[in-house]
This record gives sequence, structure tokens and C-alpha cells, in this order.
Amino acid sequence: MSELKVNGARLWASLEEMAQIGPGVAGGNRRLALTDEDKAGRDRFVAWAREAGCEVSIDQVGNIFARRPGTDAAAEPVLAGSHLDTQPTGGRYDGVFGVLAALEAIRSLNDAGLRTRRAVEAVVWTNEEGSRFQPAMNGSGVFAGVMALQTAYDARDAAGLRFGDELARIGYQGDVPARARPIHAYLEAHIEQGPILEVEGKEIGIVTGIQGIKWFKLAVRGFNAHAGTTPMEVRRDALVGAARMVDAVDRVTRATRPDAVATVGMFSVSPGSINVINEQVSLSLDLRCPDGAGLSTLESKVRAACEEVAERMGLGLDFEEIWYAPPTAFPDPVVGAVERSAVSLGYTARRIVSGAGHDAKYLADICPTGMIFIPCKGGVSHNEAERIEPAQAEQGANVLLRTVLELAERA
Ligand code: GLV
Ligand code: MN
Ligand code: MN
Repeated sequence: MSELKVNGARLWASLEEMAQIGPGVAGGNRRLALTDEDKAGRDRFVAWAREAGCEVSIDQVGNIFARRPGTDAAAEPVLAGSHLDTQPTGGRYDGVFGVLAALEAIRSLNDAGLRTRRAVEAVVWTNEEGSRFQPAMNGSGVFAGVMALQTAYDARDAAGLRFGDELARIGYQGDVPARARPIHAYLEAHIEQGPILEVEGKEIGIVTGIQGIKWFKLAVRGFNAHAGTTPMEVRRDALVGAARMVDAVDRVTRATRPDAVATVGMFSVSPGSINVINEQVSLSLDLRCPDGAGLSTLESKVRAACEEVAERMGLGLDFEEIWYAPPTAFPDPVVGAVERSAVSLGYTARRIVSGAGHDAKYLADICPTGMIFIPCKGGVSHNEAERIEPAQAEQGANVLLRTVLELAERA
């Protein structure tokens, strides 16, 4: 049955339909976790999964599991999925592609009348992006036992709304315990979100692991004073200090390792008045590096540089770690299964390490896990301009289907 393939036109139509839900302002999407738009996207997925004959269940943290039973009810299932939530100015494919490719794999098994020994489940993980509620990936994090359910429930968005309340409000606080159960393997198809596959003209990325990520919240404290009467030499301006810290983060990271990255994505000032020297600045910091030791070194250097700015300017500084996802290596048997599928389909492929975080990181803690990348235009992601071609979506879904079939074994 090595000729088994997905229905590319159906997959593309589903991607297009999902993109109509929670549209952005520039052709992408704004479907933030646990908003009405997220609910509408989830409802669409659940309806499709039921039409495909799946049993749908929802756990306490809102993760959705659409199960196509296998012939051996006692055999551990194969899971495949990703997320439907997006960034505020998100693309149409980040996460969505992996969810709908998994659904398409199930639809294609149905079309072929193929039974598998193991059940196959298409999964939607809650709040992968971490944009509205920090940290990221807390649906898969709770499932994998890395985060307590209560910690996820108690997270608050910028408006003070609680994750647990919002989950209940949209009707996705299920009653299935949000904890790991025996799983044979987890697969996640995703767009690369970077330029490597496109530059090298490769159709498929065989993902070998995910780089380490650390998130911090920084609070810089100065002193409120009058903009007109306070001489430059006596000011303790938190905004000027924060600006110098942003520059130091960028400079230190570039000088430390060519493969490390650092981003200040959030920045807010208080009181924020045109003629007042700012007393408080809060900023976020995202540091990433392929190896754990490298990430620790980078963190020490960045921290020291920020402390040096604070010291020199007479400012207070809190530098708080809020999340650490250590680097992950996917196991050889799953990486090998993905590679065999890509080769059997005649696609050009290369091995690649993921720069982005994915739910696959936490799944890898509890079961054999792997990922499949497809290229995206210009490597652009977390941007409404994110684009893929229908043929690329079809190729990635074909690799996913073949890998799922190998791991779930034909009955
Ligand atoms: C998730 O999109 C991340 O890598 O931050
Ligand atoms: Mn994603
Ligand atoms: Mn993302």
C-alpha cells in the first residue's frame, strides 16, 4: 500500500476554510487562545472530526482528541496534531497545518478503507503560542505532567482574565483527566518557520530535535520626575535604562554564538506620559540556543550586561525566569520512520533542528516523538504574510500519513 496518499485538494480547502475563522488585518489570522475565535476554530475541527467518524474527547485543559479506533483496542494509539491558536498577527499555517494534516491522514485512511491495528488520534493542543497566556504550550505541558493543571488555570492575560475562566467560558473545559496515558508515538507536521528548506530547495525537513528556550520577565525601576525641571545628570530614567538593556541583549547575543537568538517582544512603560520621566518598564526576553550549556552561558552574559546597565544608571532590576524548555532530541526510530516515508515518496529532504518551540517538545518527554517540516515562503512566520503552496501542504501530509501508517501498522 505504498501508493497511499492524501487528498491534497481537500486538505487545502480545509486550510482555506479555517483561515476564514478569526481573520487578521493583512490576510493572516488572529485567533488568540481561548477567545471566541479560538472556540469557532475548535468547533470547526470537532465537526470535521465527527464527520470523519472520530470519537471526540476533551480534557480538563481543553486539549481535543479525535480518535479513529484501531482493530486492537488494547494497543497504545498513535497521536498526530499541533495547535489552532495563533499569534496576534499570525499566519494561516503555523499549527493549523499540523492539525489539518492529521485530520486529512484520518480522512485518507477512511477513503482507502484501511484499518490500522492501533488507534490514530488527531490532536489539538491548547494555547501553544503563549501569546495571550504565558507560558506557551501549557496544554501539552499539563498533559505531559510538566505543568500543574492549577498553574495553567491561574495564568492571566494582559487584561487580567484567567485562563481557567476563559476555558470554561468557551465551553472547552472537558472532564477527561489532563494527564499522560500510554501513547505509542506522537507526530507533528509543521511549517519550518525559517528559510533553510526553501534556500536549499528541499521539500521535507526531517526534524531531529528542538532547540532550548528560556523566557524571562524583566522589571526596570527608576524614579518618576518632571521632564522639564529634572537635569539630565540626576535622572533615573527607567526607559533609557531598558532601551540600553535591549541593545545589550542584541549585542551580547551576536557576540556569544552565531546560532543563538534573543528577542525582546514585549515592552511597556509606566506612567507613560509625555512630560514625565518613566519610573517602571516591563519587558519580556526570549533566549534560544540548540544546546543547554550554550543557553546557560548566553543567559549569564545577557543577565550580567543588563545588571551592569542598571548599576551604572542607579536603576533597580528584577530579572525573573518564567519558563524553560530544555533542548530536545527526537529518538532515532521515529526520525528514521519520517525519513523512510519521505524517501519512499521520492521527496527531497534533509535533517533539521527546529528553531521554534512545539508541543512535540513536551510529548517527547512521555512517548517516542517526531516532526515533519515543510518549507514556507521566505521563511516568514509569526506574520500574517506566512504562505505555503498547496503542493507543499500535500507533500507534508503525505509524509505524515505514511509515517502514521508505519507506526500504527496496517491491520
Ligand atoms: C512558538 O511559536 C515559539 O517558538 O515561540
Ligand atoms: Mn506552531
Ligand atoms: Mn507559533
